Amino acid sequence: MSTKVAVVTGSNKGIGYAIVRGLCKQFKGDVFLTARNEELGKKAIQSLNEEGFSPKFHQLDITDQASIERLRDFLKNTYGGLDILVNNAGMAYKNASPAPFAEQAEVTNKTNYFGTIAVCDALFPLLRPHARVVHLSSMASSYAIRKCSPEVQAKFLNPNITIEELTALMNDFIQAAKNGEHEKKGYPSSAYSMSKVGISVLTHIQQRQLSADSREDIIVNSCCPGYVDTDMSSHKGPKTIDEGADTPIYLALLPEGTKSPAGEFVADRKVYKFNEYEYKMWYETSTYCGVLFIEITNQIRSAENKQN
Ligand SMILES: NC(=O)c1ccc[n+]([C@@H]2O[C@H](COP(=O)([O-])OP(=O)(O)OC[C@H]3O[C@@H](n4cnc5c(N)ncnc54)[C@H](OP(=O)(O)O)[C@@H]3O)[C@@H](O)[C@H]2O)c1
Repeated sequence: MSTKVAVVTGSNKGIGYAIVRGLCKQFKGDVFLTARNEELGKKAIQSLNEEGFSPKFHQLDITDQASIERLRDFLKNTYGGLDILVNNAGMAYKNASPAPFAEQAEVTNKTNYFGTIAVCDALFPLLRPHARVVHLSSMASSYAIRKCSPEVQAKFLNPNITIEELTALMNDFIQAAKNGEHEKKGYPSSAYSMSKVGISVLTHIQQRQLSADSREDIIVNSCCPGYVDTDMSSHKGPKTIDEGADTPIYLALLPEGTKSPAGEFVADRKVYKFNEYEYKMWYETSTYCGVLFIEITNQIRSAENKQN
């Protein structure tokens, strides 16, 4: 039998790094730590080696088509397939960033939405039966969808939406941001949150497609890792990177024949409707949700202030 293989994007630090560490402990196969910066990736490998783990390394910039294709060709030639794909790579502007909202909308989606799609387009043909795909979305997507106008919400939440229609919506948001009319068109002022709306909706569509695929039992889910202490959160999140990695690792290792979760939004190993998640968490659980809620609200307010 061929060696099984897992790939984690953007894993030289933060939650991705902890996902690699967790998979090294639990996955029976080769685990690839990938990074856009080769030096940072190799440093991360060295630090995991010092802890007694042996992940492998491959360069991957999810905004660079040639880099994606190099990884695809390598996996095809070396393993003949792919068993786990964790789309973790992501970016966010800081609240205090002076970058205009139009730029934030374009650049954030270039990585978080379009980069993730490009990786999926290249690597999905390699997925073997029983493969597991995990997208790192966010609770921010839950907040953003409910800040959209009812008309825009209806488009994103249409159960029959296609990837082409979703991509057209994401482009419409970016173009509206460039024209300074995204609020008029029913979109909220958070580039990051909107990019994660794209990821949460994409997950449902991809599962629909994979369920109809001739390869059996391929599952894709998106998740919120919680509010995690990383560079992205300016180290404000209360969860450690290992705690943040728990749900993504759980989803990456769902056993063969799993029926649910499949095509879902998952947080703390529980399935939520992504558009209801933040609301439910607000009532159901503890302080981290409140802290994150305040963070996101501040982010949106700061974007709104920048515009006014
Ligand atoms: N932290 C949280 O509280 C939180 C909450 C909800 C969701 N998330 C999501 O969880 C994921 C990981 O976040 P994190 O907090 O661990 O962030 P992080 O510490 O900033 O790490 C982000 C990782 O993504 C990589 N990356 C960025 N752009 C890339 C590109 N074009 N190609 C390849 N890799 C790229 C970064 O590489 P460089 O080192 O080269 O920049 C880094 O390795 C993200 O998708 C994020 O949106 C995080």
